[in-house]
Amino acid sequence: MDWGLQNRLARIIKPETGHTVMLAVDHGYFLGPTSKLENPRATIAPIIQYADALMPTRGVLRTSVDPKTQTPIVLRVSGGTSIIGPSLADESITTTFEEAIRLNVAAVALSIFVGTDYEHNTLMNLADLVNEGETYGIPVLAVTAVGKELGKRDARFLSLSCRIAAELGAHFVKTYYCEEFEKVVGGCPVPVVIAGGPKLDTMSDVFQLAYDAINRGAIGVDMGRNIWQSEHPVAAIQAVRAIVHEKATVTKALELFDDLKATRN
Ligand code: R5P
Repeated sequence: MDWGLQNRLARIIKPETGHTVMLAVDHGYFLGPTSKLENPRATIAPIIQYADALMPTRGVLRTSVDPKTQTPIVLRVSGGTSIIGPSLADESITTTFEEAIRLNVAAVALSIFVGTDYEHNTLMNLADLVNEGETYGIPVLAVTAVGKELGKRDARFLSLSCRIAAELGAHFVKTYYCEEFEKVVGGCPVPVVIAGGPKLDTMSDVFQLAYDAINRGAIGVDMGRNIWQSEHPVAAIQAVRAIVHEKATVTKALELFDDLKATRN
């Protein structure tokens, strides 16, 4: 791996722990002004300092993120669909590499939709991005998307999707946690981070998800809704950090969350 590519990855995946807490705020690219992300600047400002990387689109990056931030950017560069359109899987690349370089990003991210009518298109989007990423030294994060079919989040499907992403050259992969998650990680020769998915019932559930994922081989999380839809997002992200970077237990994370929410947010 070229020096620039390694250096950018090391800004996202912290060399001290080999882990990362990414903050996903790209949901508007197909969901519009989703709950608690209606005003991206207001959502992002209090929590960005606790994230190892932020994952926005270029629109939200330019309009809603302070350019003086020291948090590396993993730029969402695929889209072209909406939640009310015919298929979420029909994505194209929306943002050029020149634009990604201009925005000084640490990595670019796209979704792949294995098993759909758009499998070939989205996998070729990945292959093309990797070719450009290798040219410019910018890592590519492949997101193994399931669209509206949340039931697809099982080890068989996710192993297939993650492995294909790695085979096509993705430098790291974002997927969902599932039963037998170790099989997904075991079959994927590049680092894996997990999405949080829709908001869970309790913070205990959120911390258990992060804990299980890390203990079964994920190198981190790329969470959105379970952080910023929390009543206490600043406390939530710090408690997730404790699990990801300090091997905190769920009980310890809950104690930290309770302490932090009582003092500040
Ligand atoms: C979905 O494709 C988007 O990339 C989201 O960023 C992703 O789902 C992670 O966010 P959440 O933790 O809310 O699922």
